[in-house]
Amino acid sequence: MASINAEYLGFNLKSPIIASAGPLTEDADSLKRLEDAGVGAVVLKSIFEEQIEEDVKNNYEKSEEYLNFPVADYHFRDFDRNFYIDKYMRLLIEAKKSLDIPVIASICCKTKDGWSEYADRFVKCGADALELNYYPISSNSNVEGRDVDKNLLEFAKKARKDLKVRLSLKLGNKYSSIANIIKELDSLKIDSVVLFNRFYEPDINIDNLSFIPGPVLTGSNDYTDSLRWIGLMSGEIGMELCANTGVHSAKTLIKMLLAGANAVEVCSVLMKEGPQKISEMNKGLSDWMDKNGFEHVSDFVGKMAQENNKLGYNWERTQFLKMIK
Ligand SMILES: Cc1cc2nc3c(=O)[nH]c(=O)nc-3n(C[C@H](O)[C@H](O)[C@H](O)COP(=O)(O)O)c2cc1C
Repeated sequence: MASINAEYLGFNLKSPIIASAGPLTEDADSLKRLEDAGVGAVVLKSIFEEQIEEDVKNNYEKSEEYLNFPVADYHFRDFDRNFYIDKYMRLLIEAKKSLDIPVIASICCKTKDGWSEYADRFVKCGADALELNYYPISSNSNVEGRDVDKNLLEFAKKARKDLKVRLSLKLGNKYSSIANIIKELDSLKIDSVVLFNRFYEPDINIDNLSFIPGPVLTGSNDYTDSLRWIGLMSGEIGMELCANTGVHSAKTLIKMLLAGANAVEVCSVLMKEGPQKISEMNKGLSDWMDKNGFEHVSDFVGKMAQENNKLGYNWERTQFLKMIK
């Protein structure tokens, strides 16, 4: 029988499926259920730098009695900030105690390094790797595209310098040259990039002219952008790639691996169908490998990547032009 073990971030995972950061990875019981269902690793729900700073500010403003006491002010803010960080560390310690699979801590970063002190604390608590989310999407029309890119690369450079742990960046797909960004991150020795994060998209209720959240969960056809960029880039870089967004079935998982992903992260499908979906996907992968004569995942990872396949030009737009003629 085929072995579905996969190499990612220096670990030999028992499955290439990783539980992506989200509601199912924010408590210890749910994490255990995911492990029992067969995930190879978990990414804990993120701690949000922005939220910590916002809550600290709001709590402080409510508490006017401290306003005239600068020392109390300092301790109050520090106490509040530590409340969130300690809560995250408790989850991390609990997860490490109860799980045998790698536990990846996740930080949604707002600044270039305001979070690095607590990142360090997460590593000391046993985080096996860190996944950082930093999305300098510019809605400021005075900021040029190249400055948005530069901002991300400076962030990555600083993170790599400060953190000795295995480091993954979860990227959005809104850069003028994704290919260049990936190549630059590779040269900065980032261990992996997750392609792609899905952003909160605001929508409008036309009955009462209010703002509402756009669709929160992905659908099973939302995987193609990630697939394409993994297929285009995996043969060109040494860094690992993890597919994310729209991986809802064994079939899509296999496509991502063929394109060159070392692992996939899944969230929406687990929220819709429950953790048992992982065992179904693992079995689908193993059956497909048996049927196609692959003993190990590494036997076929990247087989369809642009650089490794004589028909790899299919990932480019030229093929699209041929198809619509
Ligand atoms: C309710 C919800 C909460 C999420 N929270 C986080 C989070 O804390 N950090 C993060 O990096 N991604 C978060 N995500 C994004 C998912 O990890 C994932 O990147 C995204 O849903 C795309 O993958 P999918 O198609 O498998 O859902 C969240 C997604 C959902 C639906």
